[in-house]
Amino acid sequence: MKKITIAVDGFSSCGKSTMSKELAKRVGYVYVDTGAMYRGVTLFCLRNNLINGDKVDEEALAGLIGGIAITFGIDDNGSQYLMLNGENVEKEIRGMEVSGKVSIVAAVPLVREAMVDLQRKMGENKGVVMDGRDIGTTVFPDAELKIFVTASPQIRAQRRLDEMRSKGNTEVTFEEILFNVEERDRIDQTRAVSPLRKADDALVLDNSEMTISQQDEWLMNEFKKRVEM
Ligand code: DC
Repeated sequence: MKKITIAVDGFSSCGKSTMSKELAKRVGYVYVDTGAMYRGVTLFCLRNNLINGDKVDEEALAGLIGGIAITFGIDDNGSQYLMLNGENVEKEIRGMEVSGKVSIVAAVPLVREAMVDLQRKMGENKGVVMDGRDIGTTVFPDAELKIFVTASPQIRAQRRLDEMRSKGNTEVTFEEILFNVEERDRIDQTRAVSPLRKADDALVLDNSEMTISQQDEWLMNEFKKRVEM
């Protein structure tokens, strides 16, 4: 069966990684979480004091970026984790500190150049499901299957609220989360370098009213159409 490249882009908190991971598992492809890579670089910047408020010391970072190794490992349960210079940093990159700074680091052109190069190398032999914001537009404009995932801000905020409540967080309100979701959408779409936008040839998947298994079936179906062509 021919191998293809699958680009999954879209807004934050709309289930991109869940569906991308599931498809990769079902069809035996490599899954690449590009958001984790930007998070890894952000952790590096934090550890090296390269961020001051909302400014990144780009000059200092330019001299250090060649020494940042971003790779993925797989644990005993088959889950992927991010490594920064050989250290498993999966937990740290999901924390509040990194989450609060990643959008400014991901907007730095030299960071994007380095990550896009690395992502192209990871996908050079095809057989990848890559999830992010600019995969179908910048990283793999020739991907055979491009999906742009979306859901209403209210639905995404509710999903995040449910997730936080299930982890015992009772402080945060729906309104706060909704504000955060809408704010991140705005930053992602208005950034100067590689803003989030749908590639002209991407299929839109609005999963506001879909269950996870309906989404998985939909994606599997689109995959089959492409490999059987
Ligand atoms: O998907 P995520 O929330 O882990 O992404 C973290 C940040 O990285 C988010 O601010 C968007 C940015 N990002 C990006 O600019 N380009 C990508 N290909 C993936 C993520």
